Amino acid sequence: MHIISFANQKGGVGKTTSAVNIASILGTLGKSVLLIDLDPQGSATSGVGIQKKAIKYSSYDVIVGKCNIKEAIIQTTFKNLSVLPATMSLAGAELEIAFQDKRESYLRDILNELRYEFIYDYVIIDCPPSLGMITINALVASSGLVIPIQCEYFALEGLTQLMMTIKAIKARYNPNLIITGILVTMFNARQRLSSQVLSELEKYYSTLVFDQKISRAVALGEAPSFGEPIFYYSKYSKGSLEYQSVAKEIILRTEGIL
Ligand SMILES: Nc1ncnc2c1ncn2[C@@H]1O[C@H](COP(=O)(O)OP(=O)(O)OP(=O)(O)O)[C@@H](O)[C@H]1O
Ligand SMILES: [Mg+2]
Repeated sequence: MHIISFANQKGGVGKTTSAVNIASILGTLGKSVLLIDLDPQGSATSGVGIQKKAIKYSSYDVIVGKCNIKEAIIQTTFKNLSVLPATMSLAGAELEIAFQDKRESYLRDILNELRYEFIYDYVIIDCPPSLGMITINALVASSGLVIPIQCEYFALEGLTQLMMTIKAIKARYNPNLIITGILVTMFNARQRLSSQVLSELEKYYSTLVFDQKISRAVALGEAPSFGEPIFYYSKYSKGSLEYQSVAKEIILRTEGIL
């Protein structure tokens, strides 16, 4: 079971779009996937077509021990894709667990219960835009990390801070955590700034950057309002094809084979 977090403390960089689309594409490639929504905004949840009224238990209930993870998981209508949904209640979890013992490893312990049942090949975690306890729980539980980056001013500054957090988490809690890759999102090669930031990024983090970049594409912004991942909303659109090739890079980097 490969657990991959999509994290970047910067808001609006494409974490949810990437997590939802890659999770669903992994499903179409025959992998059994659990998407975990750890953002109180619940965009990943609605992005895979789950409505609020269909949610009995959420990732919040699971983390604070109100229910078993299996009671909270919902099967989506998309191939091989289930979701652990999030609701606004998750916003309170940050404080509730802040002073508890082992506060950073709740999610790891919960996912360990699933590990030996061999139900899921991949667990994809959509993190909130902060480096608080929820994101730390995700990183402590993960084997891999995908960092979505928008090539604009200050993108690299935020990345340095994130890298320091990752280093600290590796040293203290999770030596197995690796960076699966840095994913360039909403890219526009014709913008000089984008290209400049990309070449900086490749200079410092060379092989970490996925070969496939994600372009800015209208369909990627539209699909969530229909509750559909891009593969189902517009299978042959540019955004869909680009995310398909990123998903394959992720399989290759994670499993060593395609
Ligand atoms: N490649 C793209 N082309 C066009 N629009 C995009 C693309 N990627 C993301 N978007 C849009 O940009 C906005 C931010 O994307 P998204 O919600 O995925 O970012 P996020 O990092 O999860 O944000 P937050 O930090 O708030 O959770 C959304 O409205 C999304 O639909
Ligand atoms: Mg998001």
